[in-house]
Amino acid sequence: MREAYIVQSVRTPGCRRARGAFAQTRPEDLLKTAINGLMERTPGVEKKDVEDILIGCAFPEAEQGLNIGRIAAQMAKFPDDTCGATVNRFCASGLEAISLQAMRIMAGMCDVAIGGGLESMSIVPMGGNMPRPHPEWAKENPDVYISMGMTAENVANRYKITREMQDRFGYSSQMKAAAAQKNGKFKEIVPVEAVRFKEKNGIMVKEPFIQDFDDGVRADTTIEGLAKLRPAFAAMGSVTAGNSSQTTDGAAATLIMSGEAVKKLGVKPIAKFKAYVVAGCRADEMGVGPAYAIPKLLKVAGLKIEDIKLFEINEAFASQAIYCLQQLGLYDDKYHWFESDERIVNVNGGAIALGHPLGCTGAKLCAQLMTEMKARGAKYGVESMCIGGGMGAAALFELCE
Ligand SMILES: CC(C)(COP(=O)(O)OP(=O)(O)OC[C@H]1O[C@@H](n2cnc3c(N)ncnc32)[C@H](O)[C@@H]1OP(=O)(O)O)[C@@H](O)C(=O)NCCC(=O)NCCS
Repeated sequence: MREAYIVQSVRTPGCRRARGAFAQTRPEDLLKTAINGLMERTPGVEKKDVEDILIGCAFPEAEQGLNIGRIAAQMAKFPDDTCGATVNRFCASGLEAISLQAMRIMAGMCDVAIGGGLESMSIVPMGGNMPRPHPEWAKENPDVYISMGMTAENVANRYKITREMQDRFGYSSQMKAAAAQKNGKFKEIVPVEAVRFKEKNGIMVKEPFIQDFDDGVRADTTIEGLAKLRPAFAAMGSVTAGNSSQTTDGAAATLIMSGEAVKKLGVKPIAKFKAYVVAGCRADEMGVGPAYAIPKLLKVAGLKIEDIKLFEINEAFASQAIYCLQQLGLYDDKYHWFESDERIVNVNGGAIALGHPLGCTGAKLCAQLMTEMKARGAKYGVESMCIGGGMGAAALFELCE
């Protein structure tokens, strides 16, 4: 089988749903900016070289609907030859898009492709604009449509992940993200020309502005402040706004090539895409997905957990992230705590601080992982996330020499 190379990987900032910087910016514009930013950061590669653009989106409807992959390609002024499609695996959609493109390249069916992700949770709400669960099926199997927050409560209750553990984890995520932001670690961010509408002389006027940072990070978070927050999903529960991922708007894109294309176009790749797996679990505790997906990935790749020097494990909720780390032997302060110099898990913070723009997240985490693998010279990096409906996904990347 051929190799697939990650040549470049970028993301827009992640901005808070409704109250954040992208609340009034159309999702197509976020995606166009990510894709154009990707191409601008890859001199020597022209738009005509890209055969296909595959975009992950968890609620591909309304402004981010139709076939957003093709629409974004055309808005970003790729030639008609460059195709586009949309893929949905909920929270793994962006990673699914990157992996499908990489696997097509490995199979010899394509040479240059883009995989990415998009979600405007401000413009298309979680669940979509018009959810229509199947009535009889939903009666028999309500868990299939269960709220994600309740799955986090289930994980906390079943596996004894206490409120204190969740708040401490949320605090650490915020501290890591705040430090990374302060130290300019998020080099993969492409600034976005966003818009907001302001009233001027009785009419609403579109006002452009540049947004170049993640606006959900709360550097002033304290453990005491987190402890005061009310449960968000169950009256007697432990899952709060401070230990859950934030609902976020964002887009991300990754350029993938065969070895032949790398040589022909004279680019220097960041990493090789090595493997991708998905693993199923119970829908009512979907958050445990990475605890199954990561061991399955390592088995496919013939590696051990100790071989992995960097992890991006999506923090949908602290309860599920903690459970997964426990199962993987990584729930030790050394590996994830913000003050540890040896940390290898979500080293610059996770979705609790940086946000989780559903269909974008898999592509966003890839961009973050590439930046940090390069910065550290980490040989193997793993990205993983849980997925609504009861699944986990995981991918392995190997840094190029
Ligand atoms: C949990 C959730 C409902 C909270 O949404 P929200 O209420 O809009 O969140 P906010 O940011 O307004 O925070 C709520 C409150 O907590 C406070 N808060 C949040 N984070 C805090 C922190 N780190 N420190 C202190 N206070 C904090 C806010 O200040 C706010 O207080 P206020 O009501 O007094 O203004 C939402 O983030 C959510 O649904 N997350 C999960 C998304 C999801 O399911 N994704 C898919 C996963 S598979």
